[in-house]
Amino acid sequence: MELPQHHDVVLLLGAPGAGKGTQARFLAETLGVPHVASGDLLREHRNRGDELGKAAQVYMDRGDLVPDTLVVDMIMHRLNEPDAADGALLDGFPRTIGQAHALDAALVERGLPIRRAVYLEVSRGTLTDRLSGRWTCPSCQSTYHDRFSPSPAAPLCGRCGGVLYQREDDRREAVENRINVYLRDTTPVIDHYDRLGVLARVNGDGEIEQVRDALRLAVDPVPVPVPAHVAA
Ligand code: AP5
Ligand code: MG
Ligand code: ZN
Repeated sequence: MELPQHHDVVLLLGAPGAGKGTQARFLAETLGVPHVASGDLLREHRNRGDELGKAAQVYMDRGDLVPDTLVVDMIMHRLNEPDAADGALLDGFPRTIGQAHALDAALVERGLPIRRAVYLEVSRGTLTDRLSGRWTCPSCQSTYHDRFSPSPAAPLCGRCGGVLYQREDDRREAVENRINVYLRDTTPVIDHYDRLGVLARVNGDGEIEQVRDALRLAVDPVPVPVPAHVAA
C-alpha cells in the first residue's frame, strides 16, 4: 500500500549533547510535524510538580533513565494529540529496546511508517564540551551555548525572554553517567533500526548549520513502513 509522503515519523537518536534539541526545532518545521521530546516533556511535568514529574525527578538528576512504563505512557499520550496524527519528530525517544518495541507496535497500529531513524554521531569530548556550556530556557526549552551558540539576549532566552538556567543533569558526574547509560541502553536501539533498514548516520561534529544541511538530506527520501512482524 502506498502511504502519503507526509504521513510519517522521524526519530532523532544521539548521545546527550549530540544536538538533538538544537536540530529538532528546525527539522520539525521542515517536515511539518510536531517536535516531541521526551526530556522536554518530563521537565514540563517536573515544573508542574505533578505525579509523573515527581517520580521522574530522582532518575533525571542522577542521569539515569526514567522507567519505560512511565515514559511510554507519556509519549503515547502525546502522540494521540491531533497535531501528531500525520507524524512527529521524536527526540530522545525511544532509548531502550523496550521503548522501541512499544513504539513500533503503536505505529503499525496507526499505519504510520518510520521515514528515518537518524543517528547524530558526535565524539565523546565534543559531547562534554557542549553540555558544560549549555544554557536552557525553562519556558520554551530552547538551548544555547556560552561559546558555540550564545543567546542574543543572554542571560535571557532570545526567543521568549525566559531566564536561562543550567540543567541539574549537566553537572560533570551526571553527564558521565548519562553518556554511560546511553552507550549501554541506547546503542541496541540504534542497531535495531539499522536492522529494520531505516537508519541514517549523520556526522554531528560540525557546526550547527552544517549538521542541519546533512540532516535535511538524511530525512528527504521515501518513507519506509515498519514491517508488521516487529509488532508481534
Ligand atoms: P534529554 O533531555 O533527552 O537529554 P539527553 O538525551 O541527555 O540529551 P540532551 O538534551 O542533553 O542533548 P541534545 O542532544 O538535545 O543536545 P542540545 O541540542 O541541547 O533527557 C534528560 C533525562 O530525561 C534523561 O537523562 C532521562 O533521565 C530522562 N529521559 C528522557 N527521555 C527518556 C526516555 N526516552 N526514557 C527514559 N528516560 C528519559 O545541544 C547541547 C549543547 O550543544 C547546547 O548548548 C547547544 O547549543 C550546543 N550545540 C548543539 N549543536 C552544536 C553544534 N553543532 N556545534 C556546537 N554546539 C552545538
Ligand atoms: Mg535535548
Ligand atoms: Zn525561551
